[in-house]
Amino acid sequence: MKLISTKLCKTSDIGVNNNLFGGIMLAWLDEAGGILASTIARSGNVITLKMDEVLFKHPVKVKEQIRIYGKMDKMGKTSVSLFLEARRANLKDETEEVVCSTKMVFVRIDKDGRPAPIELG
Ligand SMILES: CC(C)(COP(=O)(O)OP(=O)(O)OC[C@H]1O[C@@H](n2cnc3c(N)ncnc32)[C@H](O)[C@@H]1OP(=O)(O)O)[C@@H](O)C(=O)NCCC(=O)NCCS
Repeated sequence: MKLISTKLCKTSDIGVNNNLFGGIMLAWLDEAGGILASTIARSGNVITLKMDEVLFKHPVKVKEQIRIYGKMDKMGKTSVSLFLEARRANLKDETEEVVCSTKMVFVRIDKDGRPAPIELG
């Protein structure tokens, strides 16, 4: 899988239980998915259609680095389906642990917000 982005868990990202707030992680996944989908579709005009189940398997704490990886799962006429994985990095030994993963679908849109064919030619 390809590294798309690296995020730092800051004190402002923490929820009431001293873990990374889940909605922040969803935003990070959405942003990373949008970057990958735009790159694949060769267009900045892509929009989030769908995010599958996200299981928050491990807590993320302040100062931890989260690396978001992704790969294409399927390409359609106007849509691209992705698999995304967020991994917590251990900076001492450079190992990584998956904290959550999901599948997402992005759609290329035209200037009126309607689905538009992805053109790769
Ligand atoms: C994205 C949007 C333009 C799609 O319009 P639509 O009329 O619903 O789209 P269509 O039914 O023509 O489907 C478009 C593509 O999505 C796919 N799709 C539709 N429903 C799907 C589903 N439930 N799961 C997976 N793919 C789906 C279709 O297969 C099609 O892909 P293809 O052309 O590669 O085969 C429209 O739903 C929209 O504007 N949604 C809001 C998006 C948004 O605001 N996102 C930000 C987060 S709030």
